[in-house]
Amino acid sequence: MATERTLILVKPDAVSRGLIGEIVARIERRGYVVSAMKLMQLDGGRAREHYAEHKGKAFFDDLVTFITSAPLVALAVEGEGAIDGCRQLIGATNPLDAAPGSIRADLAQTIGRNLVHGSDSAASAQRELAIFFEDKDFVSRRHDLERWIKE
Ligand code: RTP
Ligand code: MG
Repeated sequence: MATERTLILVKPDAVSRGLIGEIVARIERRGYVVSAMKLMQLDGGRAREHYAEHKGKAFFDDLVTFITSAPLVALAVEGEGAIDGCRQLIGATNPLDAAPGSIRADLAQTIGRNLVHGSDSAASAQRELAIFFEDKDFVSRRHDLERWIKE
């Protein structure tokens, strides 16, 4: 396995419910580190770019409206196998299918208000991180990662 960087979004529903800290805490407790973080309100263009894979689906317009409706927090998160690891922490798309102990199972009720986004592959992570961050936004957490990870 290798150190990976993934995009996490604490979506507007989670920010509104005061769950920024709860969600970041769960990611940090796993040992992953935050290497960039932005509180922002997403514009329509970037929202459509982020969710481009869902263009044409019935829920696409609602998804763009929702994700742009209020502030969200974008985070770059790093760690060994962090892409799949964060997806595991987040849980299945529909909270009713999510594993107990995951963020969506513990804290969410519906698929349309499932609190968190996590990139689903290395290619998605690279593409999505570029929508939210520039190279200069990242700090090095290499020393912190080395302290926490043992083969
Ligand atoms: P995300 O991209 O937000 O991390 O979620 P995901 O990979 O688990 O799910 P994805 O298939 O990428 O869908 C993106 C978001 O669209 C909403 N959705 N609604 N009504 C529906 O059938 C439906 N399907 C997806 C969800 O909010 C999902 O997180
Ligand atoms: Mg997705």
